[in-house]
Amino acid sequence: MEKVKLTSLSHGSGCGCKIGREALSRILRHLPQVIDPNVLVGTATADDAAVYKIDGKRALVQTVDFFTPVVDDPYDYGRIAAANAISDIYAMGGRPLFALSIIAFPIETLPLSTLEGIIKGGTDKAREAGIEIIGGHSIDDPEPKYGLCVTGIIEQDKVVRNDRAAAGDLLILTKPLGTGIISKAIKSGDASVADIEEAVRVMIFLNRGASEAMVEAGIKAATDVTGFGLLGHLYGMLKGSNAGALLKSSAIPVIHGASDYAEKGLIPEGTRNNLASMDKRVVWSAAISQETKYILADAQTSGGLLISCPREKKERLTELLYQANCIAVAEIGEVIEDKEQRIWVDL
Ligand code: CO
Ligand code: CO
Repeated sequence: MEKVKLTSLSHGSGCGCKIGREALSRILRHLPQVIDPNVLVGTATADDAAVYKIDGKRALVQTVDFFTPVVDDPYDYGRIAAANAISDIYAMGGRPLFALSIIAFPIETLPLSTLEGIIKGGTDKAREAGIEIIGGHSIDDPEPKYGLCVTGIIEQDKVVRNDRAAAGDLLILTKPLGTGIISKAIKSGDASVADIEEAVRVMIFLNRGASEAMVEAGIKAATDVTGFGLLGHLYGMLKGSNAGALLKSSAIPVIHGASDYAEKGLIPEGTRNNLASMDKRVVWSAAISQETKYILADAQTSGGLLISCPREKKERLTELLYQANCIAVAEIGEVIEDKEQRIWVDL
């Protein structure tokens, strides 16, 4: 049978086809308020995972994430989807315990070996994170989707939330940006083999080491950079923390090729939407190019941790992040006082 181009089966344009933040909040605001007192982190702060108290000391951390193919290789797609799903446990400072899988697959039209590849990728990545996939649910669907529901555990006083950033904190990012734009270039056939390999290396890399490092350094605020892009996830932190941020765009690491593809107009729909919805909250210095704006808004898959680090903890944290072999240890800006929660972007 002919080799399938998985990304061509995805209706969107190379960023997993998420629903935008504004549409999502319009839908979610009609939900009743959470009143269960055991809920330590719920829907109110749009954090990475839910946190639920189970006894006097510990809490469960729970998350679910799945998306359409962002690369063509089934095994890589499975590894990326698993690394991405488990990342929301890591972003809270939690330790994953086990996972269940979510599978949508066109069983009549694609070879079963493709699905086997996806599942093998997910299983291997989960193993690397020290967990097993112990169940799940699958449906027959013309558009493939894959992901995990992950359960983790955490000590209640060690939860790293997205709404605890404080003015003066430094912003540290642990992976380069650009995976959404490169996925779009993969889909259109423009991406070079080397750029695809680098994007895959970034996306399959677990945020485990970065998470353990921030917990050990006593960090209180972080998130991971995924579908809403750096600007969107940073804004999520700032909104909850009632602060602003100053970003130094030249310090932000970018995957090779992403700027070139952006210049050629290979911008995923999700990235365009991210920039459109964040533009009014960002104060751009005149020197910032349109490509850079797209990269800062680029919808990431399995991106790095964005850590809000008190200055006195920076030395310890960066030392631990280097020890964990993080792909990037980049100080990209700082949290500032700003009641309007704006993001100021300088060169
Ligand atoms: Co997240
Ligand atoms: Co997520």
